[in-house]
Amino acid sequence: MTTEDPTPQEPTEKAKGEAPAKQSEERRAEPILVAEEIVAGYLPEINVLNGCNVELARNEIAGIIGPNGAGKSTLVKAMFGLVPIRSGSVRFRGDDITNAMAHTLVAKGIGYVPQRDNVFPTLTVEENLRMGTFLKPKEFERRYEWVVGLFPRLEERRKQRAGSMSGGERQMLAMGRVLMAEPEVLFLDEPSAGLSPAFQDQVFEQIKTINETGVSIIMVEQNARRCLQICDHGFVLDQGRNAHAGTGRELLHDQKVIETYLGTLAKVA
Ligand SMILES: Nc1ncnc2c1ncn2[C@@H]1O[C@H](COP(=O)(O)OP(=O)(O)O)[C@@H](O)[C@H]1O
Ligand SMILES: [Mg+2]
Repeated sequence: MTTEDPTPQEPTEKAKGEAPAKQSEERRAEPILVAEEIVAGYLPEINVLNGCNVELARNEIAGIIGPNGAGKSTLVKAMFGLVPIRSGSVRFRGDDITNAMAHTLVAKGIGYVPQRDNVFPTLTVEENLRMGTFLKPKEFERRYEWVVGLFPRLEERRKQRAGSMSGGERQMLAMGRVLMAEPEVLFLDEPSAGLSPAFQDQVFEQIKTINETGVSIIMVEQNARRCLQICDHGFVLDQGRNAHAGTGRELLHDQKVIETYLGTLAKVA
């Protein structure tokens, strides 16, 4: 199996909005990242996750939704080596990365954008982006051009301190900083949280664009309906367990999921 496959699959299909209904068996058969039966927690003997499963196929977007406190952030942190995994496993391109350290995972090609505190506020935009290539400083110019091509606003704000920017701009910078390292897989924790509706739309569009360039994405979202519209596969977590899983489209139209997790708004989707 080759690890070099930057060609996005079905970009035109995805660009239209909802993810395609059916995934081919072949694509399901070769996930780039698999988390199986993850049990994890912060305090001794208290498990926040009680056996969670997530699977990300290459070049796809997997969405994790669910109520507040379900364990969504914990699951992403556990996969990124920030919360100890007590049992279960995480595999990336077939390698066991269970409890690997975050910096090792960055070097392997995984990027993580936390929900909060995801930029260095006293540093400028450019300095923040430079932090993203600290493992490969020679790559800075090439990656900088790529990232500002995606987020032109960052070029306009190049010398501005991150702390003085709007929430939407900071979110772009946070994603941009992680993308500087050229990850194959990106974890995003609630990228649209706290943003104005216009900025939320922009962030969802940018996530689709990032995905179409060949980056596989796992995103946690409070905006569940919007998330399911752009993700290929969705995982509903509830109380530290998987409650539902399916394609984004299946979950969007699943009556139980609608009633329990999406609210009445979803019925008009
Ligand atoms: N740093 C922490 N220490 C102890 N418990 C935590 C910590 N962070 C989160 N929790 C607990 O873990 C559970 C799941 O939290 P979280 O993963 O943040 O949920 P979600 O992201 O789905 O809203 C909650 O009960 C929360 O109180
Ligand atoms: Mg969270």
